[in-house]
Amino acid sequence: MTGHLIIIEGGDGSGKATQTRLLTERLQHEGRQVRCVSFPDYDSESSALVKMYLNGDFGRDANSVNPYAASAFYAVDRFASYQTKWKNFLLQGGTVIADRYTTSNMLYQMIKIEDPAARRRYLDWLWDFEFHKMGLPVPDMVILLDVPLAVTEQLMAARMGKTGGQTGDIHEQNESFLKKCHEAYDQLAKQYSWQCISCALGECMRSVEAIHEDVYSIVLKLLKK
Ligand SMILES: Nc1ncnc2c1ncn2[C@@H]1O[C@H](COP(=O)(O)OP(=O)(O)OP(=O)(O)O)[C@@H](O)[C@H]1O
Ligand SMILES: [Mg+2]
Repeated sequence: MTGHLIIIEGGDGSGKATQTRLLTERLQHEGRQVRCVSFPDYDSESSALVKMYLNGDFGRDANSVNPYAASAFYAVDRFASYQTKWKNFLLQGGTVIADRYTTSNMLYQMIKIEDPAARRRYLDWLWDFEFHKMGLPVPDMVILLDVPLAVTEQLMAARMGKTGGQTGDIHEQNESFLKKCHEAYDQLAKQYSWQCISCALGECMRSVEAIHEDVYSIVLKLLKK
């Protein structure tokens, strides 16, 4: 009896780690078999190519690595994590909650492609590569922590303030990049029927607890099916 794979997706600083932790802890507390994972798996050697890419070893401009090559780096990291850490748990009926997954890969690489038809070809290729050819599990549910662009800009400005303007990786956080990400998240959510949770009211983030209640109730419906 295969269990459930649930993805917590969202832009930088949207609360993925926070919500993944709260959801995992609550479901575990209820006595369910639940584990969480996060991607990229920076603690594992399998993320070496992802680290080189984000560090700019293949070029400081993210566009200097084509989406197909970059996707391969991330896919092998997910494959290694799945094979060594959570495949058996999932196949035995456990619930796995993932902070990012193929879904983040889709987002950050598709925005390198302007032409809509070429974008579709890329997304179809990635789906086939990961879920058919590599045999990674298709998520049962993707929850998008939806933060409006204006609020994301505030969060990023606060973060830049803390780090002196350094985000540390080549996916730079400028305004046009964030706008592209938001548009791409909208497209992906529609195309793949993701569950969207509005994380802000106007220009303010909702509380961590309120967002958690929404996440929990959506997940409970899936687990009770
Ligand atoms: N609803 C919220 N309101 C205000 N602050 C929040 C909320 N959710 C999370 N935070 C805070 O925002 C910061 C980023 O949260 P978190 O690490 O969970 O997000 P993330 O999506 O995993 O971020 P990253 O993109 O950096 O991985 C943390 O300091 C966290 O405590
Ligand atoms: Mg995080």
